[in-house]
Amino acid sequence: MSFYHKNGYLYCEDLKVKDIQDEVQYSPFYLYSLAQVKANYTAYQDALKDTNAIIGYAVKANNNLTLLKKLSGMGSGAVLVSGNELKLSLAAGFNLKRTILNGNGKTLDELALAVEHGVLINIDSEFDLKHIQQTTNQLNTPANVLIRINPDVNPEVHPYVSTGMKNSKFGIRNEKLNWFLNEIKNDNLLNLVGVHCHLGSTIKKVRIFRDATEIMVDFMKIIEKDGFSPHYLNIGGGLGIDYDRSGEDIPSPTDLIDSIRDILPEHITLIIEPGRSIIGNAAVFVNRVTGVKTNGNKHFIVTDGSMAELIRPSLYDTYQHIEFIEPVEGKIDTFDVVGPVCESADFLGKERRLPTPSEGTGLVVCDAGAYCHAMSSNYNLKMSPPEYLVDGDKLTCIRRVETLDDYLRLFDV
Ligand code: LLP
Repeated sequence: MSFYHKNGYLYCEDLKVKDIQDEVQYSPFYLYSLAQVKANYTAYQDALKDTNAIIGYAVKANNNLTLLKKLSGMGSGAVLVSGNELKLSLAAGFNLKRTILNGNGKTLDELALAVEHGVLINIDSEFDLKHIQQTTNQLNTPANVLIRINPDVNPEVHPYVSTGMKNSKFGIRNEKLNWFLNEIKNDNLLNLVGVHCHLGSTIKKVRIFRDATEIMVDFMKIIEKDGFSPHYLNIGGGLGIDYDRSGEDIPSPTDLIDSIRDILPEHITLIIEPGRSIIGNAAVFVNRVTGVKTNGNKHFIVTDGSMAELIRPSLYDTYQHIEFIEPVEGKIDTFDVVGPVCESADFLGKERRLPTPSEGTGLVVCDAGAYCHAMSSNYNLKMSPPEYLVDGDKLTCIRRVETLDDYLRLFDV
């Protein structure tokens, strides 16, 4: 593990996080370990070494340009959900032929970009197919498309991150598959190359992936019978990580791939779209304690970081581990760890048993690499925090802090 403790201090690779905090000065900030990103990506590569496969990193999880360049440099493909993510992936050097555009509301501009760059496009609905056709006709350029199917397998996750059930807003209505196949057959600019599904996020059981893969393989057979030769089987992303640190066994990429290996048809290319399991545990969100208060019953640790920089606990009522980066001797109590934002939804963690810190103590929210900086906002006019990357004993700023001047410039209209 790239984050570990020594003599009561938290380390990231070879560096003491407290020293980094003193050096960085600005607070709060995100801190990444390059070794952890590499280890996570390599775990997928190892799992897939005997399989024809594309690892498509889900850019939405974390779109820091430096991190994207590192991943493209390791050979990763990219999974995109917007035209801007497509442009960023170009800048990061991803091979766009190993890239997939997802989405239930792709615009004509986004589709044009995807068609121009030969990105694989998932068909999500009747209107989405019509828009793809409109785009390929206008550009007189062919497109490789996959059909997004809802296998209707319960991912057993928070409803907000469940995406492959029948009532999901994503994917086609499976009963209309034949209609889609006929439309594609009659269109000589569309090339149906595969099927796609994405069950949801934070999945902790490989059985769920296996059940869905079986269903997807059946869909591939139906499509083949209709005269197509689909060769991409895209089973989406969604593998969970160990947020809870409860000792529960979280499946590894190898567990996931091993669980479906025997049912994968020959001569296909498997596409997998991991986001969280590549970047989630590769970062911590580093704060300073502003103060400690109590109302008699409830005790609060108030930090400078808030729901504006890290919204997952507030939005999904989810757990991310919180700890101090240095030895703290105070009385152990039960605290809510809260930010300064002006509403009660603003918390980083609830009911945590922690020693009472003094002002200025360093505190981290762990497993903050995925969907944390990417979902940050300017609420309460908090500025987008800077990001730092550790590589061995080297610290690099990979995103400067946003300033009020940056913000004010938006009003130069
Ligand atoms: N592919 C598709 C089509 C997706 O919609 C997603 C994530 C992924 C891949 C990557 O899933 P991952 O491997 O990262 O689980 N904001 C939420 C997560 C939303 C995920 C949405 N889709 C959170 O903070 O937990």
